[in-house]
Amino acid sequence: MDLDGIHILTLFSVLVFSVAAIWFRSWKSQLELRNIPGKLGWPLIGETIAFVSDFSSPSGIYSFIKKRQRSYGRVFKTSVLGRFTIFMTGREASRFLLSGKDGVVSLNLSYAGKQVLGPSSLLTTAGEEHRQLRRLIGEPLSVESLKKNVEFINHWAINALEEWQSRRRVLVLEEASAFTLKVITNMIMSLAPTGEEQEKFRANFKLISATFASLPFKIPGTAFHRGIQARNRMYEMLDRMIAKRRSGEEVQDDFLQSLLRKHSGDDEDLEKLSDAQLKDNILTLLVAGHDTTTAALTWFIKFLGDNPDVLQNLRVIELTSSPSSILPKQIAKKKTVRYNFQEEHLQIQNARRSSSSSSDHVTWSEVNSMAYTNKVISETLRKATILPWFSRKAAEDFTIDVNLDVVSMHHDPSVFPDPEKFDPSRFDMPLKPYSFLGFGHGPRMCPGMHLAKLEICIFMHHFLCRYKWKSLDEDESLNPTLVRMPKNKYPIAVEQL
Ligand code: HEM
Repeated sequence: MDLDGIHILTLFSVLVFSVAAIWFRSWKSQLELRNIPGKLGWPLIGETIAFVSDFSSPSGIYSFIKKRQRSYGRVFKTSVLGRFTIFMTGREASRFLLSGKDGVVSLNLSYAGKQVLGPSSLLTTAGEEHRQLRRLIGEPLSVESLKKNVEFINHWAINALEEWQSRRRVLVLEEASAFTLKVITNMIMSLAPTGEEQEKFRANFKLISATFASLPFKIPGTAFHRGIQARNRMYEMLDRMIAKRRSGEEVQDDFLQSLLRKHSGDDEDLEKLSDAQLKDNILTLLVAGHDTTTAALTWFIKFLGDNPDVLQNLRVIELTSSPSSILPKQIAKKKTVRYNFQEEHLQIQNARRSSSSSSDHVTWSEVNSMAYTNKVISETLRKATILPWFSRKAAEDFTIDVNLDVVSMHHDPSVFPDPEKFDPSRFDMPLKPYSFLGFGHGPRMCPGMHLAKLEICIFMHHFLCRYKWKSLDEDESLNPTLVRMPKNKYPIAVEQL
């Protein structure tokens, strides 16, 4: 046999072996799933067509799930985007999947997500490595570290709102996105909130965000390829920043500096991060924290616009020395909250004005007295369910994904009566564990929760005290993205009070 013949035979054998291996894994998985109700659809394609078409429908992925739950119940199997998938819902499923038995069940990031965020991202690690990273990353996001950002957040909230009133039409989603990016980039790496660097960063970040809903083909012209290139540009910028900080040419009081300080410590026992870990996790925080907070702020304003009674409560509420929902439970004072419909935000403002303070900025302790606002945040996260499902892997050698369907949990009438109603008083009483997952639960619970709440409370205080608004479009459709957002970006007209 000549050399070409050997090549062809080798290629053919590899092909046959690969197809056989894929077929065997698929057969094994199908066998393991045989007792779970549901359909796996067509070979290879599965139910992908129905999934993609429902994903882009006005009510989003919920309609795909709802139809199957009606036929098969709370646990069903399907096959979408080339993967066998089990959808589960309910408190028991939530406890099983989120309680932290990593290894049996671990976070399942899409292939595109893994490629973009890198191998040392918090979202791609599991077990001890994950716990260690979380400790390091969680510290600068702790309540104590957040206090130093209050002034900055106040300043840029007021600044953004002053621009809103000069426009005939404001797209809340776009504006919330610019505001939250300024806050997070300043907090992480002291990036100037305006100017060329911020604009470049924003453009790159938009391209990176788009990769999560794209097909992972590194072919020039595709969204994935553009996203990877943008990620490389962002990493080059971070490399330059890290070099300046290391040489002492620049020193800042931010997240990056605090991680670098750990990184360069002499202490052998000190946990240290490599440059790759630093960059992957800075990008992870940006990706995990930006779209989510942007969507939450937008839904918050939209739900208030749709529910004038709640808006009235928010403007008209008693200020008690209430337990804080921003501070962790152990710091917060335990006391029952009662409202008599006096003004939460205007009271805070009036109290500030009658004190010696000449500033219009919300203080840290004022933020911690916004008990009702915190219930509106929870109700916003319940009704909108910004992250519709949490994805987990069944086990290392399985090809099966397990998705916790959070939308159904947040709309279960036995837990949240009249679920379509926007009613923050649902959160007057504590809920059973694992029934409300606005910020998740267990070892993967959101480490940016306090930052997100801080941004929303400060922004909303200035908005509610100074402006009124009306919606310019009633379309209720959702954007076909992983983070649920209003498709019309919630256009409004703003007026001063
Ligand atoms: C209102 C805004 C936010 C919402 C609704 C939200 C929601 C969530 C949820 C539900 C999870 C758990 C997902 C799962 O278990 O699969 C999560 C995880 C995470 N969040 Fe947030 N988040 C928000 C803001 C932020 C911010 C501001 C940051 C950082 C600056 C952040 C960083 C993260 C990270 C890094 C994780 C992964 C944690 C891990 O795997 O250990 N989030 N978030």
